[in-house]
Amino acid sequence: MHVTARAHPNIALVKYWGKRDSARNLPAVGSISITLGDLWTDMRLEADAEADELSVNGDSRPDLLPRIASCLDLVAGDDRQPMSVSSHSNFPVAAGLASSASAFAAAVVAAAAISGRKLEREELANLAGRASGSAARSLYEGFVELENAAERVQVRTICDSASWPLSVVVAITSTLPKSVGSGEAMEISRRTSPFYERWIDAQGDDLQRARTAILARDFEALADVAEHNCLKMHSVMWASRPPMVYWNAATLDCMQAVRQLRADGAGVFFTIDAGPQVKAVCLPEDADRVRDALTGVDGVERVMTSGLGEGAHLLG
Ligand code: DP6
Repeated sequence: MHVTARAHPNIALVKYWGKRDSARNLPAVGSISITLGDLWTDMRLEADAEADELSVNGDSRPDLLPRIASCLDLVAGDDRQPMSVSSHSNFPVAAGLASSASAFAAAVVAAAAISGRKLEREELANLAGRASGSAARSLYEGFVELENAAERVQVRTICDSASWPLSVVVAITSTLPKSVGSGEAMEISRRTSPFYERWIDAQGDDLQRARTAILARDFEALADVAEHNCLKMHSVMWASRPPMVYWNAATLDCMQAVRQLRADGAGVFFTIDAGPQVKAVCLPEDADRVRDALTGVDGVERVMTSGLGEGAHLLG
C-alpha cells in the first residue's frame, strides 16, 4: 500500500518571523504568501517497512527522520504502521527555498490518505504548521493568508492563481545548507533583537496593506509593502545576538538588479527568506527580462522561473 502527494513551496510576501508558542509551533504573526506552481516536492509513503525510514532525492537521511516521523504521528496517530518515506523535489532543499513547507504539506496529505483519515484542509494546514509554520500555507493555492487565531491558525486563499497570475524568478546564489535553521533563528531574534517587539506590533499594518493591494491587483502597492516587510524582517535578524546574516554578495547584487529593472519600467520586486536566494516577483510579461538580468549577475548559480500554483494534493 503506497500513496504519493505533491505540494509546492510558497514564498511569503508578508513574512512569518517569531513564535508565540514554541511547543505548539504557533506563529507570533500572521503572514501572506504565494504558492509556486512549477517547483514541487513529491512525498511517497509506503506502509511496508520494519521501521520508519526516509530518503530525500534518493539519499538516505536518518538525520531528518525524527521531524517527519512526528508529523506523520500527528496525522496518522502514534500507533500507525512504520513507513518508508521518500521525498523528491525539483529544486535545491535546505537553502532558503521553503523546501520544508512543501515537504510537510505533502506529508500531511499523504499521511491522511494512507491512514484513511478524512481531514478538512484547514485541519491538515494546522497539522503541517505544527511541523513547520510556513507549511500550513502550502495546503492552499494562489495568494494565501495565514491568520493567527486563539489556539490554531486559520488559512485561506484570498486570490486564486488565475485571477492574478504573477511570475516568480528565483535566483539561486548558493546551495549550501543554511548556517542557522529558521526556527532556531526566530528564537534568537525573540530573545535578543531590539527590533523584535516593533516587528510584531507593525505586522498588522503590513498585512492590511498587502491584502488590499492583492484584492485590487495593485502591483506597485504590493511591491512597496513586500520589500519593506522583507527588509524589516532581515533588520530584526541583523540586530540579533549573534547576528544572522543570510545574504551574500550576489544576494545584494540581485536586489540591486531588481531595483534597476523597476526603475527601467519592469513590474518586479524582490523578497528574500532565511537564505541567500532572491525571489523576484514579477508581472508575467516581464519575466523573461527579469530572468535574463538575474542570470547575468555574478555569483548567480542558477535561475528558475515559476508561475503561481495549487495547494497540496494527492497524485494518481
Ligand atoms: C523566513 O516555517 O521554516 O521563510 O515553523 O520553525 O519551521 P518553522 O519555520 P519556517 O519559517 C519560515 C520563515 C520565512 C518567512 C515565511 O515563510 O513566512
